[in-house]
Amino acid sequence: MAGLPYIVGNWKMNGTRAMLAEARAIDRAASRFPGVQVALAPPFTLVNAMREAAADIGVGGQDCHVQASGAFTGDVSAALLADAGADFVIVGHSERRALHGESNELVRAKAEAAQAAGLGVILCVGETEAERDSGNAETVVTDQLAGSLPQGEEAAAKLSVAYEPVWAIGTGRVPSVADVGAMHRAIRAKLVATYGEAGAAVRILYGGSVNAGNASELLAADEVGGALVGGASLTAEAFTAIIGAAAALAEQA
Ligand code: PGA
Repeated sequence: MAGLPYIVGNWKMNGTRAMLAEARAIDRAASRFPGVQVALAPPFTLVNAMREAAADIGVGGQDCHVQASGAFTGDVSAALLADAGADFVIVGHSERRALHGESNELVRAKAEAAQAAGLGVILCVGETEAERDSGNAETVVTDQLAGSLPQGEEAAAKLSVAYEPVWAIGTGRVPSVADVGAMHRAIRAKLVATYGEAGAAVRILYGGSVNAGNASELLAADEVGGALVGGASLTAEAFTAIIGAAAALAEQA
């Protein structure tokens, strides 16, 4: 596994100020597991407050604009996220690709803008159910990577890739451990082909219906360097169990 296991919670469009109590509890739990790197991506409205409330975890955005500033009503740039205290940003989540029509080219531009602003990037890729059923999952995912991986000398250094099969997100369904391993190996091969040596150190996270019950199994699959967790990151209880599972595996390794 490349580096510490990286367990990231994606709160999506959830998170009032009252939920900062969960973030504080997650932060306390994370400090008990120094062998795991923990982060949360709350809505933009909570980034700064979470940064202040939680000292031991990473805090990030869920999207960013490609420009640093300007007349883009409703958008948030990577520079603004960094100013609010964010360490990283998620780009190319399937909900952005599907609901906002984001292309690979746009996702690449966002990843490059984020890195230029000093943020780490979690770049999401994943196939639909129809694409998996037709046997095209690996081609779809490697094509997404070819189109959206950031370019540039330092691109691999501040990058994680999250493999999130669209059909597994929020559904309670997960791929087999063998399928996760096969896809992660294909992603690793693409990263090494793109970045050379540096591509071997990029962490590849699995995402899609990760919970306390399946985390150990999924995190133990080939080339899985962590998890991107939606629903099960909304409470400290559920998320801490996943962090604990990652810690237990890291100790065995
Ligand atoms: P889920 O979401 O864990 O609720 O399936 C994962 C994600 O979309 O990042």
